[in-house]
Amino acid sequence: MNRSDPWSGGPAEGAVWFDPPPRAAKVPGPPPSPARPPVALSVDGREVRVPAGATVLDACRVAGVETPTLCFHETLTPVNACRVCVVEVAGARTLVPACSRQAEAGMQVKTDTPRVRCSRKVVLELLASSVDLRIAPGMAETMARYGASPGRFGPPAPDAADRDAREAGHHHAPDGAAAETVAQPVKADNDCYVRDYSKCVLCYRCVEACGTDAQNTFAIAVAGRGFDARISTEWARPLTDSACVYCGNCVAVCPTGALMGKTEHDLRAAGAWDPERQTCTDTICPYCGVGCSLSLTVQDGRIVRAASPVGADITRGNLCIKGRFGWGHVQPGPRAGDAP
Ligand code: SF4
Ligand code: SF4
Ligand code: FES
Repeated sequence: MNRSDPWSGGPAEGAVWFDPPPRAAKVPGPPPSPARPPVALSVDGREVRVPAGATVLDACRVAGVETPTLCFHETLTPVNACRVCVVEVAGARTLVPACSRQAEAGMQVKTDTPRVRCSRKVVLELLASSVDLRIAPGMAETMARYGASPGRFGPPAPDAADRDAREAGHHHAPDGAAAETVAQPVKADNDCYVRDYSKCVLCYRCVEACGTDAQNTFAIAVAGRGFDARISTEWARPLTDSACVYCGNCVAVCPTGALMGKTEHDLRAAGAWDPERQTCTDTICPYCGVGCSLSLTVQDGRIVRAASPVGADITRGNLCIKGRFGWGHVQPGPRAGDAP
């Protein structure tokens, strides 16, 4: 349509203006795919139905069957690292990991056969003979449930201070008298969190949380191979020299306490960590407009841990450095740098 000249008010010479078509309210997406029918299968003889795409673990939960897991986490891609969750599927040659195997129509799943129990028991024994699982939540109960006896491999071998320097593929012959372990000195190289890899089961959760599943920082990865495999920064540099942004999302998903906030670590080391004296309060991070959900654990009037609920829509358990570790300014008492 012809428009007037905005300066003179008369018709603009030679100018032709077009009214653009109205913008779409939102970018058009692909047409919805037809809904897939639910999947019917049996778990320990119980018929269950789960949505298409659900896993065998989902089916076990629908059936009310408790299946132990270790490397699995609701917000992360399953990596099948631990094999604690294996179940027997009729017709399958091997045991299958329930956490990642998709449920199929007509599947017959057995979760408590002698083969399943033996496999879980040996996996737990191998883990517990080499890794310090004393503070891993629920692990003692799972070990007792399967009669795991890690002590049968012998007493723990002395700590190896050189694990970070080991060459990939180099074989260390065991002496047969003691069970080799992943024990090594605690890495406390920053004010936010501590890495105690003698408690690490190599579940890969922290690597995924630091990588494509949440943070996309890629500060840590698995170094070495076989028994020498370990979580490491590039060239085993201190965290302060790495790409770490201290979001602590790795700490939030670690199932064994290998990664732990420094406040909690120091209180535990002093014998002062006491869940009986702790309360947990949900609130909202005040630092920025994202407004992440926070769960603050408080002991004796001081915040000792900040987390985000896994079920929170936006954060799904993740935070940034401020929400996770930046609460020192609300603590009672003098702050670092205050005048005496
Ligand atoms: S440090 Fe924790 S989260 Fe990372 S691999 Fe080890 S046990 Fe898993
Ligand atoms: S945790 Fe970080 S991103 Fe979330 S509200 Fe606090 S400052 Fe903002
Ligand atoms: S929980 Fe399934 S393989 Fe680890």
